[in-house]
Amino acid sequence: MAFREIDPKSIPDNLFKLIGDDWMLLSAACGKDFNTMTASWATAGVLWNKPVVQAFVRPQRHTYGFMEKSPYFTCCFFDESYRDALTFCGKNSGRDTDKMAATGLTPVLCEDSRVWYEEARLVLVCRKLYAQNIDPMDFYDDNIDSTVYGNRDYHRAYFGEIVRCMVKE
Ligand SMILES: Cc1cc2nc3c(=O)[nH]c(=O)nc-3n(C[C@H](O)[C@H](O)[C@H](O)COP(=O)(O)O)c2cc1C
Repeated sequence: MAFREIDPKSIPDNLFKLIGDDWMLLSAACGKDFNTMTASWATAGVLWNKPVVQAFVRPQRHTYGFMEKSPYFTCCFFDESYRDALTFCGKNSGRDTDKMAATGLTPVLCEDSRVWYEEARLVLVCRKLYAQNIDPMDFYDDNIDSTVYGNRDYHRAYFGEIVRCMVKE
C-alpha cells in the first residue's frame, strides 16, 4: 500500500490516543545508520506558526545520539498488529540489539538522514527546530521530579516542524 501526503491538519486520529495509547516509533538517522525507539510521551500542535511535534528522549537512550546528530526525526504510527514490535523496540536497545531483524520492520532510508517504516500507517517527518533539556529548577509540580526523575535522567525535548505527513491509502 502506498503512502499519500496529507496536511497535518487532516490527520484523522485523536492525537492524545495516537501518542499516548497507540505509541509511536521515534527514529533518527545519520547517513545509512539509524536507530529507533518506542515513545509515548510527545506533544503535537502549533508553535512559531508551524505544525510542530515535541518528542522527549532520556539521555541514556541509544536513539539520543542520533536525535542529536540528525537534522530530522520521524514519528511513525502503526496499527494494533504491530504492538509486539513496538513493545520490543521499547524494551531493548539498539546498542546491543538489531531491532529491525527482531521485529521484521522494513526501514525506508531517504536522503538527508530521514528514516521511516514501510509498515507504518502514519508517518510524520520532522525537521529539528529547537531542543531543550528538562530543568528540575523549573518544575511547578515537584511531584513530577520525584516520581519521574529518580535517576536524574532528565529528558531532552526536541521540537520538530512537521515537513511531511504521510498516511496509507
Ligand atoms: C510504551 C513505551 C513508551 C516509551 N516512551 C518513551 C519516551 O517517550 N521517551 C523515552 O526516552 N523513552 C521512552 N520509552 C523507553 C524507550 O523506548 C526504551 O528505553 C528503548 O529501549 C530505548 O531504545 P534505544 O536505546 O535503542 O534508544 C518508552 C518505552 C515504552 C515501552
